[in-house]
Amino acid sequence: MKIFKEIAPLKAFLKDLRLKNKSIGLVPTMGALHKGHISLIEASKAENDITVSTIFVNPTQFNNSSDLLKYPRTLDKDTKMLQEVQCDVLFAPDTQEVYPQEVVLSFNFGQLEKVMEGKFRPGHFSGVGLIVSKLFNIVEPDNAYFGQKDWQQFAIINQLVMDLNVNVKLHAVPTLREPDGLAMSSRNQRLNEKERIKATVFFKALLAAKELLVQGGDFVAAKEKVQAIVEGEPGVKLEYFELADSKNLNLLQSVSNVDKPILCIAGYVGEVRLIDNMFI
Ligand code: PAJ
Repeated sequence: MKIFKEIAPLKAFLKDLRLKNKSIGLVPTMGALHKGHISLIEASKAENDITVSTIFVNPTQFNNSSDLLKYPRTLDKDTKMLQEVQCDVLFAPDTQEVYPQEVVLSFNFGQLEKVMEGKFRPGHFSGVGLIVSKLFNIVEPDNAYFGQKDWQQFAIINQLVMDLNVNVKLHAVPTLREPDGLAMSSRNQRLNEKERIKATVFFKALLAAKELLVQGGDFVAAKEKVQAIVEGEPGVKLEYFELADSKNLNLLQSVSNVDKPILCIAGYVGEVRLIDNMFI
């Protein structure tokens, strides 16, 4: 695996491959890799000649400075994991390389960021838009892979690609879960033993809500059920639970007349903030 810390040599290396008509797949990450990330690498490897993964804990998408400080950083372990799955290229720049000067550009994704993550993490998606735009410009990939776990992020990047005519095909990869249902996440590393067990409550709540809605129940009843399940677990706090149209993220009160509704949930287990979602 070729490892780059700087943009110029990475661009030169990729330019050469592009001239040889090699297709390039991009998998952006913030590191602390787990099997969910690896499933994105595998999806890219199956469809591209060259897979470029990136590891960069992007400061502009953290609206909370202690969250940024506490974000797990395990570059040596991550590098070994990527080598094991035969990822072709790792781009792991430092902050100065990506942000050599103060950023003035910001993104406003309108309605898409007025709900859920965007509502509770102001500025977050502007930072995501910025770093993903930079990575698209640096790598110029044919394909880019993102997790369904961050569905709102995927919807926003889709909008970015359409609005800016970025020449890339986006792919959403299904959420990989632990055997007990907990969605894999870099943040799970911060849970202690007891919290790790409690953390499955979000998956359980999503399952119960989905069952209720599929059986014809309404969203109010589903929300009450979710609140009861989550509040029944001491030390766990619900931040939001929403039903949305997965295409435009419009919030819904019922699943009727919508092609692909999605349930989204976020909350805290102790001090660790987790999110999850489920299509209906
Ligand atoms: P990060 O949280 O490291 O996630 C990197 C990619 O892995 C994202 O596309 C995310 O949706 C996906 N992912 C995370 N957990 C997953 C799981 N359990 N199953 C499948 N895919 C999963 O998301 C980011 O980083 C950043 O916002 C980034 C896009 C890199 C921009 O900084």
